[in-house]
Amino acid sequence: MADYDIVIIGGGPGGYNAAIRAGQLGLRVACVEKRATLGGTCLNVGCIPSKALLHASELYEMAIKDFAGLGIEVTPKLNLPAMMKQKADSVVQLTKGVEFLFKKNKVDWLHGTGTLAGGGKVNVTDDSGLVKELAAKSIIIATGSAPAPLAGVEVDQERIIDSTGALSLPEVPGSLVVVGAGVIGLELGSVWRRLGAKVTVVEYLDRITPGLDTETAKTLQRSLARQGITFNLGAKVTSAKRGPDSVELTFEPVAGGASQTLTADYVLLAIGRRPVTDGLGLQAAGVAVDARGFVETSHFATSAPGIYAIGDVTLGPMLAHKAEDEAVACVERIVGKAGHVNYDVIPNVIYTFPEVACVGQTEEELKATGVEYRVGKFPFTANSRAKVNHEAEGFVKVLADAKTDQILGVHMIGPDVGELIGEYCVAMEFSAAAEDVARTCHPHPTRSEASRQAAMGVGGWTMQA
Ligand code: FAD
Ligand code: NAI
Repeated sequence: MADYDIVIIGGGPGGYNAAIRAGQLGLRVACVEKRATLGGTCLNVGCIPSKALLHASELYEMAIKDFAGLGIEVTPKLNLPAMMKQKADSVVQLTKGVEFLFKKNKVDWLHGTGTLAGGGKVNVTDDSGLVKELAAKSIIIATGSAPAPLAGVEVDQERIIDSTGALSLPEVPGSLVVVGAGVIGLELGSVWRRLGAKVTVVEYLDRITPGLDTETAKTLQRSLARQGITFNLGAKVTSAKRGPDSVELTFEPVAGGASQTLTADYVLLAIGRRPVTDGLGLQAAGVAVDARGFVETSHFATSAPGIYAIGDVTLGPMLAHKAEDEAVACVERIVGKAGHVNYDVIPNVIYTFPEVACVGQTEEELKATGVEYRVGKFPFTANSRAKVNHEAEGFVKVLADAKTDQILGVHMIGPDVGELIGEYCVAMEFSAAAEDVARTCHPHPTRSEASRQAAMGVGGWTMQA
């Protein structure tokens, strides 16, 4: 039996960052991961491969539609295997990078499936069925999430696929129906539309991207519809029937009415994700879960002494950077430091074109709480960098407390706004007022000036519009 200060189950952004931080702090640490590579969902079948395909497909579409206008004449030809290879290469490099960081920080990676064995023990079962017992002073559960299933739509990864299947299709579909107008549906729907597929989205609610600031969501929907994505909102999927090379998807209006059937080459099911806890031994170990299966925590501690949980397996946004921040804070708390995550300042980016980036509260949330707020808004049509790049769609919107001017929420839609939101995360972490950003010099000509102008707009002195 090996003795550790901390044993972590799961090697995704939650697990690997916890392991590295524990190694940095001089703890004896092991990370149990059953996948052949480290990095979890994010590096293997999530953030990284999806962004690799989003980047490549965006350039492909630009080459077809926009290069000529810039005076560049090319005849683009899609080489899908090569596009998939550069995606796979990025995944290999980044997962190997985590392996390197494990070695550097003296983290033991135990390849196998971890289960809680009670009494501060974790059993690790390797591929050959051999079980190794580990003793740990503290255990961190970081087992992440998996795609949520839908009755009547059986994922076979051939024609009815989830996000993992959609990252590795062997061909460009003639037609693709996406079930769920959330982040995965819109990002991966965008990839395949850009590469030539006819994409139709079927969404249960009467809007896309629930939870996102409504004005921003409507702007995104209009833009994606202009690009050729068809939306069926308020639609309840009842079945998906497989043919040899196609799928028949039937849905009916949520409000009632006649059902409709679409035939498509592929159906992508993307209706959310669920926590992964099957077979972990939570109940026997005394770890409580909520009605939806999320591990219940208070400052990362579960109901069982010495057992903690972080990342997608716990409540909150299912985002890699949330898992990473929880990882660091959890380990720091275990060693008696003041680890802390500010859940009011967790940004959210949708990597479509235009991109969406936001942090803090939406206008709807502020209205619901009755806080008086002021709005500063600036369109990219009035931003010189966006103009010269011919990418002037979208806006930056800053919401600030009407009395104190403190920034309460920021919502952006436009080119590369995912890179702009970090400035507001720092500002909000320091409880900045909109005027603090408004009076900070920003470089010209950059898109960051639109961020600043929106903050100036809160005080009523926007200059460039
Ligand atoms: P995971 O990354 O899911 O890792 C958990 C790991 O635990 C897995 O490797 C699993 O194999 C392992 N495991 C589970 N059970 C056991 C066990 N019993 N024993 C051993 N190992 C076990 N987030 C962003 O912030 N930005 C993005 O751009 C983004 N894009 C995404 C795109 C897609 C297509 C998807 C699906 C997700 C995306 N996400 C993105 C979400 C992000 O991937 C997750 O929030 C993040 O991976 C959560 O990290 P985690 O460590 O909690 O869990
Ligand atoms: P999601 O929660 O973003 O969206 C799911 C959508 O499906 C919602 O619009 C929901 O109303 C709809 N839906 C639910 N049930 C339905 C049904 N029966 N029929 C039709 N529509 C239905 O979930 P998604 O897109 O699967 O992504 C999962 C998670 O992964 C997200 O929570 C997100 O945090 C994370 N992610 C983050 C990314 C990023 O940060 N850029 C990229 C991709 C995923």
